[in-house]
Amino acid sequence: MNPVRLMKVFVTRRIPPEGWAALARAADCQVEHWDSDEPIPDKELERGVAGAHGLLCLLTDRVDKRLLDAAGANLKVISTMSVGVDHLALDEIKKRGIRVGYTPDVLTDATAELAVSLLLTTCRRLPEAIEEVRNGGWTSWKPLWMCGYGLTQSTVGIIGLGRIGQAIAQRLKPFGIQKFLYTGRQPRPQEAAEFQAEFVSTPKLAAESDFIIVACSLTPATKGLCNKDFFQQMKKTAVFVNISRGDVVNQDDLYQALAGGQIAAAGLDVTTPEPLPTNHPLLTLKNCVILPHIGSATYGTRNTMSLLAANNLLAGLRGEPMPSELKL
Ligand code: NDP
Ligand code: DGY
Repeated sequence: MNPVRLMKVFVTRRIPPEGWAALARAADCQVEHWDSDEPIPDKELERGVAGAHGLLCLLTDRVDKRLLDAAGANLKVISTMSVGVDHLALDEIKKRGIRVGYTPDVLTDATAELAVSLLLTTCRRLPEAIEEVRNGGWTSWKPLWMCGYGLTQSTVGIIGLGRIGQAIAQRLKPFGIQKFLYTGRQPRPQEAAEFQAEFVSTPKLAAESDFIIVACSLTPATKGLCNKDFFQQMKKTAVFVNISRGDVVNQDDLYQALAGGQIAAAGLDVTTPEPLPTNHPLLTLKNCVILPHIGSATYGTRNTMSLLAANNLLAGLRGEPMPSELKL
């Protein structure tokens, strides 16, 4: 009788319980993992992935040619516990016939909720106000003290009216937004109809929006999209929010725009690098609110992401349709 050949799976981090339980139940797989909450060092990753049939990774793991070479010819499936895929060398992966799973939709609501929270936190200056209460700066009610900018009757510009961009617009609509503008590679008339959102050029969006939210994917075309020119086109009273990826923004240009009063404020859930060094100039600015990439960070969402990532991996390894496969 032939012994049963187990498929080797390598998981680059401890993942939430639902995903882990799904992998543990897979009798046809031998699962190894980096048993830590911290990122796996490159050398350990190369060692772990060698000979693996499946890789379950996170957005902090760079899957490039070198890693694929280290994995070898067995590798058939890469499943990332993220919707963003900018950490994966997709051309190289496609060339090798490797299937890719990712986690769209299940994190849309949590990320949109965080984007709206960050926008309100930034435009109403909540961190500054909380600090004033703590440090005794709150001396009296004063007419213009701690004033910010309100959403009612405003124009909101969304860069990337995809799943998350639309979910942000849905949540902002009840705040009495007067007009939504959006950009993308092409108009999305069906999705835009719900918000009567107008498809415009990036310079027009920059110039006319009171609030700008970046919700696009990071690609060669969006890298550095929000740069000096972009910030110069913005209103001095406008507030900028990025929940996409840090590299969509030129951070030196953003610093200049914030420090020089070219724009009113910025809220960032994503930066370059991550974590942002604690001595980074952006952290010296009162008008810049920075969060540690927590868009999808609810217990429920992260558990669901891990389960979807595990199911994508297992389906791919078994030659079945994945619940969420990235079309390469
Ligand atoms: P979608 O694929 O649904 O949306 C991506 C959007 O990017 C689309 O609207 C697309 O517009 C837009 N886009 C692509 N190229 C360009 C371009 N050149 N100029 C302007 N827009 C462009 O993805 P999701 O909405 O699910 O996720 C979006 C991104 O959000 C992820 O890729 C990830 O990086 C980030 N993210 C961050 C999280 C966080 O924790 N902060 C959590 C989850 C996601 P079109 O197709 O119309 O061109
Ligand atoms: C993603 O999924 O791309 C986010 O950045 C983290 O949830």
